[in-house]
Amino acid sequence: MRTVAVYNNKGGVGKTTIAAHLVYRADAKGIRTLAVAMDRQGDLPKWLSGGDQGHRDGAVFDFSKNVTVLYSPDAAPEGIRGVDLVIVDTPAAIEIASRVKPDLWVAPCDGRMALEDLANVLPTMLEPPGARVLIVFNRADAGGTRTLSAMQRAAAKIPGLSVWTEAIPDSAAVKRAGEFYMPAWDVPYGASTSGARILRAVIDSVLDSMGLADGNVRRARRA
Ligand SMILES: Nc1ncnc2c1ncn2[C@@H]1O[C@H](COP(=O)(O)OP(=O)(O)O)[C@@H](O)[C@H]1O
Ligand SMILES: [Mg+2]
Repeated sequence: MRTVAVYNNKGGVGKTTIAAHLVYRADAKGIRTLAVAMDRQGDLPKWLSGGDQGHRDGAVFDFSKNVTVLYSPDAAPEGIRGVDLVIVDTPAAIEIASRVKPDLWVAPCDGRMALEDLANVLPTMLEPPGARVLIVFNRADAGGTRTLSAMQRAAAKIPGLSVWTEAIPDSAAVKRAGEFYMPAWDVPYGASTSGARILRAVIDSVLDSMGLADGNVRRARRA
């Protein structure tokens, strides 16, 4: 079983958006998945239930045949069995997020402040043996491409991090995904946008890097 946690110390940088899209791709690839919302706001269960607001602590529901959703504010899931992947949407507080010991952190960043916050808590994130951190610039293009490349260069110098080379732009399709409770590549006019394409590429690479490309899962099940 592999665990990926989506984290940044800053709110509104795209954590829930990335977590929801991880769920869509894991589901499409037939990966048995538990999606956990540790964020008390419950945005992930809201999204994956198509807008239902009233999830109580500990609420569990099936998103699909492959994906179960757990609303677990502040508490890291324990004793999980029977899934290949756990996706955790964490709150913007490292004291709480670090209760998860993920194999991989995906950290969306929208600018220098988000990046610096992240650099401060990196030692905590890298504590679990073998843990990795992947930074994904999301909506970081407001300052133009030069500003973005400067940030990407700065991020590449922080030891222990990897950086996804293509930034996810500020994108109407990605924004719409959250309004329609749908993947960005399925919203009207979404499929051909760079926002949807890059988001999907990051996510497929994340699942691949955890040995969860669909081929591998099928092979593992047959074995
Ligand atoms: N690349 C993007 N382009 C446009 N809007 C985005 C993008 N990424 C996120 N958003 C929007 O920004 C807001 C915050 O994103 P969200 O994923 O909820 O952040 P967080 O979980 O970090 O608080 C949401 O309204 C979301 O739809
Ligand atoms: Mg969120």
